[in-house]
Amino acid sequence: MEREGDAVLSIRDLRVHFSTDRGLVRAVDGVDLSVRAGETMALVGESGSGKTVTALSIMKLVPVPPGRIVSGEIDFRGEDLLKMPLGKVREKRGRDIAMIFQEPASSLNPTITVGEQIMEAIRLHQGLRGRAALEKAIEMLNLVKIQNPEKRVREYPHQLSGGMKQRVMIAVGLSCRPKLLIADEPTASLDVTIQAQILHLMKELRHEVGTTTLLITHSLGIVAEMADRVSVMYAGRIVETAPVHDIFRDPLHPYTRGLVKSIVNMREERRRLDVIPGAPPNPARLPEGCRFNPRCEYADERCRREEPGYARVGDARWVRCWMTLEGGRRQ
Ligand SMILES: Nc1ncnc2c1ncn2[C@@H]1O[C@H](COP(=O)(O)OP(=O)(O)OP(=O)(O)O)[C@@H](O)[C@H]1O
Ligand SMILES: [Mg+2]
Repeated sequence: MEREGDAVLSIRDLRVHFSTDRGLVRAVDGVDLSVRAGETMALVGESGSGKTVTALSIMKLVPVPPGRIVSGEIDFRGEDLLKMPLGKVREKRGRDIAMIFQEPASSLNPTITVGEQIMEAIRLHQGLRGRAALEKAIEMLNLVKIQNPEKRVREYPHQLSGGMKQRVMIAVGLSCRPKLLIADEPTASLDVTIQAQILHLMKELRHEVGTTTLLITHSLGIVAEMADRVSVMYAGRIVETAPVHDIFRDPLHPYTRGLVKSIVNMREERRRLDVIPGAPPNPARLPEGCRFNPRCEYADERCRREEPGYARVGDARWVRCWMTLEGGRRQ
């Protein structure tokens, strides 16, 4: 049993590459990330930065080929998942690690009732059968605030709205009482009101069930709402990790600053959105030096030539940027 604050998951120098006709895509290229017991850790970054590939690696679900886990370590409660035989990792999936995806419709089986899908997890992981499993399934639907659970438990996914499907996915995910819940853009396909309801539900569940969560999102708004700590991903790497309030109060990496500025402006409802100029690099042709340098207003010769290592700031945060490493900010 972990104590609150112990690392449940520690990813070190993870590299996952894909052979494509565009060339070698270094989708994840040196990721360091940890999730501590009881916390909600957010992984935030633009589309294509490698968030989903990182999550799939934890579950050993990266398609091989075209993908290849080139190197790294994924320590889950003291064992390296990358060294573990696939069969053993499969056992952990669903039991110790659950994942909910962006698109609930595609993760639920359309030919099986929602009750059956929850009961499958319950039978497998909690050993309950018959009436007891059914009651547990109803209890899970209750937990995720689905009205009329006794009726809904017999329904098929197509009879449910998008928001309800996502609630069912969360119920399936939590049925095995996972040690780690990975939620990859769990609300991205839902409209704003339903999105808010699901986020609210996830927060409540956190208090009720105490789930340790890795929450993947491209929205800093969701990070502010949900997370304790955050890692910011850019072009296959983490560029900054910090407690959430530090990220908003004093973002250190110029990329993080750009992200934070754009959300502040959205809050103030200014018409002009302060977006970071330029586009993320083509992952098959990453720039020399710091990967953010072509978009960085502070970049100098060194940034274009040499990749920065980590600068520790205090005992809770670190950033990959020459400015911090050199101990000052360039104006
Ligand atoms: N099966 C695959 N084959 C080839 N390339 C892939 C494959 N899966 C992912 N990639 C590439 O890896 C990179 C990272 O993709 P990933 O899906 O992890 O991004 P993401 O950060 O989750 O983006 P989004 O916010 O859009 O979900 C992208 O360049 C993508 O094209
Ligand atoms: Mg993704």
